[in-house]
Amino acid sequence: MPRIALITGGARGIGAAIAYAMAQDGCDIAIADLPGSDPTAIAQRISQLGRQCLICPGDVSSAPDWHQWLAAIDQTYGRLDVVVNNAGISGPIAAITDYPDDAFDRVMAINTKGVFLGIKYGAKAMLAYGHGGSIVNISSNAGLGGSPQIIGYSTSKHAVIGLTKSAAKGFATQGIRVNAVCPAPTDTEMVHQLERLAGVDIARQRLIAGTPMGRYGEPHEIAAAVVFLASPAASFVTGAILAVDGGSVA
Ligand SMILES: NC(=O)c1ccc[n+]([C@@H]2O[C@H](COP(=O)([O-])OP(=O)(O)OC[C@H]3O[C@@H](n4cnc5c(N)ncnc54)[C@H](O)[C@@H]3O)[C@@H](O)[C@H]2O)c1
Repeated sequence: MPRIALITGGARGIGAAIAYAMAQDGCDIAIADLPGSDPTAIAQRISQLGRQCLICPGDVSSAPDWHQWLAAIDQTYGRLDVVVNNAGISGPIAAITDYPDDAFDRVMAINTKGVFLGIKYGAKAMLAYGHGGSIVNISSNAGLGGSPQIIGYSTSKHAVIGLTKSAAKGFATQGIRVNAVCPAPTDTEMVHQLERLAGVDIARQRLIAGTPMGRYGEPHEIAAAVVFLASPAASFVTGAILAVDGGSVA
């Protein structure tokens, strides 16, 4: 029986790479993403692998949307093995004194509360099915050190690490492992948006300067770490915070 993996923010970027890599690893997939997103291309690629892909439109910061997604997964697959809490936004670039209050709330709602809801309701479903599971949260290298120009983002990603460690301990004897991956800047639309805001050359120089390997990560390189953490090969790994960052925290 294939494992079932739910990936939030799976329509594009790192989430799409994770969905594809999990399907290559033998999972059937559910992609949860905003109603305006277009998961058609990734869903087709997953079908070409001979795996199923259920599309779940909604917002990770909404508990009712989580209930709908999990009900649809139950109806379609009747089990849930993996939740990857990947959806996230970067929010504005601004000095702390200029950072808009409402933007801070929005970044925290999606990047932190969204992960909280994914852990809470994902784990509840896994416990009800009774076969354990694995939750992988996507934090960031901005979750490991301060980033004064993106304080909302950095704060929200530090909180993801707190959620990961607390949930890992909470579920340690219940068969549910919880881990986090911290990517350095990776070649996706999120980074391209930052390039447009700050100017391509300036953004590239700054983002790559912090990465000893001297380049952006590729989405499939982040996905490979997620596949490992989600798999039975990581059966004794929980509460781990895995940097996938070209040496940034070395
Ligand atoms: N790209 C990077 O450099 C980088 C570095 C470190 C961490 N990350 C993290 O990796 C994750 C994926 O980033 P990405 O670069 O692929 O971003 P992206 O912007 O390319 O894709 C994000 C996806 O999440 C979806 N999404 C956004 N808000 C949502 C919401 N409220 N509910 C459901 N879906 C929502 C978007 O529609 C999109 O499909 C994010 O958590 C991000 O913070 C990215």
